[in-house]
Amino acid sequence: MCGIVGYVGPRKATPILVDGLRRLEYRGYDSAGVALYGDEHLWVRRAVGRIDQLAEAVVGAPSSQMGIAHTRWATHGGITEENAHPHTDAAGRIAVVHNGIIENNSSLRAQLEAEGVVFLSETDTEILPHLIRKHYRGNPLEAVERALRQVRGTYGIAVLFADHPGTLIAARHGSPLVLGIGDQESFIASDPQALVAHTRRVVYLDDREIALVSAGSVQVGRLGGSLEDPNIKLIDDDWGLAELDGFPHFMLKEIHEQGESILRALRGRVQVEEGNAKLGGLNMEPRDLVRVERVVSLGCGTSFHAGLAASLAIEHLARVPADSEIASEFRHRNPIIPKDALYMAISQSGETADTLGAIQEVRLKGGVVMGVVNAVGSTIARTCGAGVYVHSGPEIAVASTKAFTSQLTAMLVFTLMLARTRNLSLDGGRRVAAELQAIPDKVVRYLKNPGPIDEMVRAVTAARYVLFLGRGFSYPVALEGALKLKEVAYIPCEAYPAGEMKHGPIAMLEENTPVIFITSKDDQRDKAISNMREVLARGAKLIVIHPEGDEEVKALAHISIEVPAVADYLSPLLNVIPLQLLAYRAGLVLGRDIDKPRHLAKSVTVE
Ligand code: F6R
Repeated sequence: MCGIVGYVGPRKATPILVDGLRRLEYRGYDSAGVALYGDEHLWVRRAVGRIDQLAEAVVGAPSSQMGIAHTRWATHGGITEENAHPHTDAAGRIAVVHNGIIENNSSLRAQLEAEGVVFLSETDTEILPHLIRKHYRGNPLEAVERALRQVRGTYGIAVLFADHPGTLIAARHGSPLVLGIGDQESFIASDPQALVAHTRRVVYLDDREIALVSAGSVQVGRLGGSLEDPNIKLIDDDWGLAELDGFPHFMLKEIHEQGESILRALRGRVQVEEGNAKLGGLNMEPRDLVRVERVVSLGCGTSFHAGLAASLAIEHLARVPADSEIASEFRHRNPIIPKDALYMAISQSGETADTLGAIQEVRLKGGVVMGVVNAVGSTIARTCGAGVYVHSGPEIAVASTKAFTSQLTAMLVFTLMLARTRNLSLDGGRRVAAELQAIPDKVVRYLKNPGPIDEMVRAVTAARYVLFLGRGFSYPVALEGALKLKEVAYIPCEAYPAGEMKHGPIAMLEENTPVIFITSKDDQRDKAISNMREVLARGAKLIVIHPEGDEEVKALAHISIEVPAVADYLSPLLNVIPLQLLAYRAGLVLGRDIDKPRHLAKSVTVE
């Protein structure tokens, strides 16, 4: 959620740190700060607001070749300069940036206060420099290790000592950290996105690992163990430097990338002639797949919605019972894990704490979990060890768009494999494979002519409340559409299965209330039409997303958005796009901060 950057090497640290923070700003954006080493002292500046404010505050910084920096998303303590990181010990000789939450913060703080420490912030992080100071006897690594032994909770930290120029310390437990190794220079970051401009050679820290980071070399070890040369990995080619490329916002760029990103999720995986697919990372042969009696997706937010759409497709095509679970609920309810179930943990960032917690719960109970992840090398990908990369490339806008369609595509490829081990014939498999392959072109075609989105925007921006409805495959799309509109435009709205409308939400309908109805070519269409008539009878404004050529539905709607016609189980891949565009343009009209909506953060690494 928050972002960390550290640098040590021959170049000027400040621009590297500030640029790194800009690349991580999508992770958290309440306040930011840097600590630089210069002239045997530490120089610290912090600022409330965006990185631009920090960039102004560091004008005139000492020329330094080493420093740490942070962009914050507040958890403990309000959004103030005092609460921004880095935090230092009383003498200002040790500076720390921290992501995560120190759970025993209160007791440690009370202990330190009793020993005379005066705290300057309300943050849990501030205990770290004071604890490190307390244990410091000249050896920085030892001091950090001893401090961390007292801490309960999660952390990704970078520490800078005024007494040890040329060396930074990094440690992680439950909050991601990656080290970058360049030519005579090294980096610390909470996300590889801050590194790709400088190096592709990286070391992902594991939980309870600590690292000594100096120019061009890093050494890593378990907390309390000895340090060794680490295993260096290369950042995947998909993970390029995310630039706007002429688009005004990342959200719009990412919506428009979906033809290409869906293609990448399919590439090399679908075999049209064999009517089948192959996902090498799953390490599952047909004899393993036939033993799967249930598939359960785990995820949060948009990833949960992708799992929901996928479970419907799994039941429909493979006739295997399937569910999607909200990871934050699942992990805490002592779930029953059937022995023959296969769990699929879906996550764009691969760092979502609740999804990770759910994975650990399944594994603890002896279950099998595969990752369906975008960020290569992320914690979830490494924890699962097996699974599918969705290859949508970096997603920078906080509101997830292309990740949804890529996750669902990857899950549909898996569905095809699973279905072929059951009742899906060769011909049936060929049909599904061909339909999947045709999706990217249909997405591109739709995006060229998206229909009267602005009419929808006018209706929702004038409304006090918006209702999204859908049946079957369209219900997860309704949920996702409502989530996007809340996140990006802050418009009160909710999503319901259309059949549930008369059990309550119909009471919300007034003259002109926008009701966005999502439909597909399925056997629930007639029932959907009855629901539309119920909406119209209450004077509401009916907006319908429907397949091209459905003239009956089109004639009923006040506003009609046509998308290319596809099989029902594929319809979420097309139907979600007008809703993404609606949220984007509504946010724009209302003057929202599109890529960084209020209170949100990309990658929710705390519970
Ligand atoms: C929605 C959104 C969030 C994420 C959720 C899960 O636009 O961005 O709801 O989908 O926090 O994140 P990942 O997929 O990274 O696990």
